[in-house]
Formats: sequence, structure tokens, C-alpha cells
Amino acid sequence: MARIGVLTSGGDAPGMNAAIRSVVRCGTHRGFNMFGIDRGYAGLIDGDMVALDNRAVGGIIERGGTMLRTARSQEFRTSDGQQRALTAIRDHALDGLIVIGGNGSLRGAQWLSEHGVPTVGIPASIDNDIPGSSMAIGVDSALNTVVECLDRIRDTAISHQRAFVVEVMGRESGYIALMGGLAGGAEIILLPELPVSLADIARSVRDGNSLGKRHSILVVAEGFRPSDTLPHLGSSARAICNHLDALGDVESRLTILGHLQRGGSPTAFDRILASRFGEAAIQSFASVAPSAMMSYDGQGIVPIPFTALDEPCTNVNPNILKLADIVAH
Ligand code: F6P
Repeated sequence: MARIGVLTSGGDAPGMNAAIRSVVRCGTHRGFNMFGIDRGYAGLIDGDMVALDNRAVGGIIERGGTMLRTARSQEFRTSDGQQRALTAIRDHALDGLIVIGGNGSLRGAQWLSEHGVPTVGIPASIDNDIPGSSMAIGVDSALNTVVECLDRIRDTAISHQRAFVVEVMGRESGYIALMGGLAGGAEIILLPELPVSLADIARSVRDGNSLGKRHSILVVAEGFRPSDTLPHLGSSARAICNHLDALGDVESRLTILGHLQRGGSPTAFDRILASRFGEAAIQSFASVAPSAMMSYDGQGIVPIPFTALDEPCTNVNPNILKLADIVAH
């Protein structure tokens, strides 16, 4: 009977627990022995794993976070750490591994598969920046959190006729800002992929005012940098607020949503997506060549090679930005 390990790695995402539950239950259904690895690659290096049966993953489908815990392991980036991981896999006689995580975590899965470990990757990251998959676990839940927050902020923005600058997650990817901004009716959306100057941002706020809008919501991805300022370490959202306040006729307020977006109960969409990813990951261990990354193509789950990670991610669609601009004014 095959022995399959599962780990969650990198930033957590709502729905990771639903994926663990699906992997374990679909695995035992096929007669596999399933093992949960604690704290991602850090736990793998330490050989920190326990057997998981169906009861061990009960009552978690609705829980945010990850019952296996997670880590951003620096050690696994070193060759010593990687060798220790291979040793632990051998010592525990694992026949395969399922890695649930974002870009960096799936790169780790690719490395293991290239070093003889049958490994399957499941995309999970609220950033939705994984090349080859149109959707990752956690994105829908995070978007719903963002939209709920924007709805609340709009109430007070209208009452006080203010410009609210709302920073959302996404160091390198503007997906949450773009889709959260569209769904939340933001007047201005600022992405890391498309730099805009502070002067143009101010002009857009004033243009909105001249159309009779007395309030505005600016959704800013944390990785956005204004094109007319020097690269800096501080928050661009704060710099935008300062710039708007200096105009004299705009009063701004700043809200940073931060890790609120990573927690909370997964939406139905994320629970379903996670369950389907888990099933497909287990199915691929029954195939001839089990090393692959699972991808969601808008309809179903398809295995794709890990080399898809080398391609640019196309999930941020600039046409959506144009649409968001039209429908917000
Ligand atoms: O997991 C992705 C992400 O949420 C990014 O959007 C964000 O920049 C980063 O993780 C924050 O990471 P940490 O929780 O390690 O500070």
C-alpha cells in the first residue's frame, strides 16, 4: 500500500483544510496510507509527520488556516535542507508527496519531483499568481472578505465625503486588488503590474469629484509603487493618502486590510475547489507519471507539468481594469 505525505507551505489560505481533508479521504478511499507533515518543508526536513485517517480530518472543512500548520522554510532553499528532506522521505518510506501552497511551495514540489520523489502540487494562495491555473484555493474567500470590508468602508466614505485608500494583499500580484476593486465598486484600482503616478491618481480623484462624486475608494495592492516616486520601503498607500491630503480639497483615510484577508472560513467555492483538487491529486498517483501540478482551467482540474511555473501568470487581465473604471463612474 502506497504511503503518501501531504503538507501545506507558504502563506496560509482559506480552504487549505478542505484540501487536506479531501486528499486524506480520497487517498484512504484508494487504499493509500496517508501522512500529514507538520509546518510545510520545515517539518519535512525534520521528518515531523503523523499518520492521518479519515477521523483525523473531521470537522475541518469550514475552518480557515491549516491544521498541518505552515512555514516559509528558508532551510529548504539550501542544498543541505533539500538533502535532509530527501533523507526524511526515504526514512519514512514515503512513496509520494502532495504539496499544497503558492508559487514558491510549488517550486519546491518541482525540485522534489526532479529528484526522484513523485510529487503533486495543489495551488493555494490568496494572491492567485500561480502560472497555469486560473484559480487557486483561498482566492475566492479572500475576495469575499475584501468586498465585505469595502462595503463597510463605502458607508463611512459616503457619510464623510472622504477618499478612502484601502491597501490589500499582493506583493507582486494585483489580482486581489483588481477583482476585489471591481466587485467592491472601487473608483480607482492600483496594481503592482501597472504603475501610475501620484499626480495621475490625484487627477482621477478630482475627476470623480467633478462628476459629482463626493467620496472615492482607492484599492491599492501592497506591491503597487507610484511611477513618480523613488522606490521606497514604506507603504505606497500611505504615500497616496499624504499626497491627496496635501491637495487641500480632498480628505483621505487609510485602511490596511492585511492578514484579515488570509483568515476566516472558506467560501463554498473554495471548499468545492479544494475538494476537487484533492481528488485529482490522489488520482494522479494512480497514473503512470504522478509528478504534476494540478490546475483549474475554469471548468475542471487538469494536471499540467511543473514547467508551467516558468511561464508568466496571466490571471491579471488589464481589460478588467478598464471595465472597473467604466462601471465605477
Ligand atoms: O500568501 C501571499 C501573501 O498573503 C501576500 O499577499 C503577502 O504579501 C504575503 O503573503 C505576506 O506574507 P507573511 O504572512 O509571511 O507576512
